[in-house]
Amino acid sequence: MEVAQLSVSFAGNNVVEQMEFGLGRGEILGIVGESGSGKTVSCRALTGLLPSSATASGRLSFDGKTYDLSDPKALEDLRGGRISMIFQDPMSALDPLMRIRRQFALRGLDEAGAITALAEVGFADPSSILTRYPHQLSGGQCQRIMIACAMISQPRLLIADEPTTALDVTIQAGILALLRERARQTGMSILFITHDLGVVSEFCDRVLVMQRGKVEEIGRTADVLSAPRAAYTQSMIAAIPTEANRGQRLPTLKDLEAGRAVAALPAAPRIERKHTPVLSLRNISVDYMSPDCSRFRVVDDISLDLHANEILGIVGESGSGKSTLAKAAIGLVSPSAGEICINGSPMDWHRASRADRRQMQYIFQDPRGALDPRAISCRRCASLWTCTVSARAPSAIVWHQRRCCAQGWSPRIICAARAICRAGSANAPRSPARWPCRHRS
Ligand SMILES: Nc1ncnc2c1ncn2[C@@H]1O[C@H](COP(=O)(O)OP(=O)(O)OP(=O)(O)O)[C@@H](O)[C@H]1O
Ligand SMILES: [Mg+2]
Repeated sequence: MEVAQLSVSFAGNNVVEQMEFGLGRGEILGIVGESGSGKTVSCRALTGLLPSSATASGRLSFDGKTYDLSDPKALEDLRGGRISMIFQDPMSALDPLMRIRRQFALRGLDEAGAITALAEVGFADPSSILTRYPHQLSGGQCQRIMIACAMISQPRLLIADEPTTALDVTIQAGILALLRERARQTGMSILFITHDLGVVSEFCDRVLVMQRGKVEEIGRTADVLSAPRAAYTQSMIAAIPTEANRGQRLPTLKDLEAGRAVAALPAAPRIERKHTPVLSLRNISVDYMSPDCSRFRVVDDISLDLHANEILGIVGESGSGKSTLAKAAIGLVSPSAGEICINGSPMDWHRASRADRRQMQYIFQDPRGALDPRAISCRRCASLWTCTVSARAPSAIVWHQRRCCAQGWSPRIICAARAICRAGSANAPRSPARWPCRHRS
């Protein structure tokens, strides 16, 4: 495959400019770059899957034939068969009204084939997964199903847009090994978008670095990671958290460009364990209903305390109950047993006031599903509020009244900023979904 002069714009705003790269048979090319740099948009342009508001130009040479990227219809015969894509948000890529069995059947795979495909992507009990709807699966499980679906057609090119972000390291290693094996056996080439440079160094033959819609550099993975030429790649590598820089502020591109030393972080606040915990979970269990109406346990008798100023990490394999536990803590899922205490007092989330609910904020795994699509995508809004995380005063999220469409913030940044702002500031404006929108369509 050879991509030449690929450019994409939204309403005259260029988001990808003159992108050029080639990809050999069986080769794995990693695409890395900051959020909003154009990784997803450029890969969608190669499959003709850009929204109608986008304008693309450029050429794609694939298997000896040249395609005009400004004509998405011309790419139809490539899509789904010879080029397959794993989308960044798997929840929205699966049809919510269909059980997993039917999602496979529509892609031409019978039950036995679907069970084999699910086992390959690490499901211990594939038959039970086939009877569920997407909303009855965890984010990582949906992601693995998308990976299995994308490989059904044995594509010549697989475009994988952050396919392993929701997966724990063991399952991620299994999936990467599977993809690499397919690439070696069948000659399938892979465009692999990721933010994880560790995965790039393990998995990709070459890497392409993007910033603000442009290719900063491209080369063999070992060369780019050991001797990066572009300032952006250097800053990206310098900002990898390691044991050595633990507790220090990581350098940004601006720090490196200005040649200034990174200021030390203020000392971490003390965690007073003698005081009452902010959040206590006592013997929490959560059951879900299976399709045959029997109940199955996903969180079993978990107790924990979280004190003021404390950051508690919850890790575990895909589908182990991390999100369910967190949702139970803030009342989005009802526990079947146990007690939740906020600042020492038992909390019944069914009776909680709005003020109680505002004390806790949740940044969801699927940012697109968490934002009101009208508030973000409404083209005609004269002005909406968007937010800017101020690097100088991280505690104060600065809210600006701006044209949100022109701004083009990544959903995950907006979700994080909104949650921090609501939890951290009494003067925060109300949620964007509630703000007046004069031209709501
Ligand atoms: N439908 C759209 N309308 C207008 N602008 C868009 C649209 N989709 C994407 N953009 C803008 O195009 C630019 C590139 O977006 P893209 O999704 O490719 O980023 P990305 O590199 O994949 O980021 P991330 O790492 O966060 O997934 C961003 O500025 C984004 O805001
Ligand atoms: Mg993306």
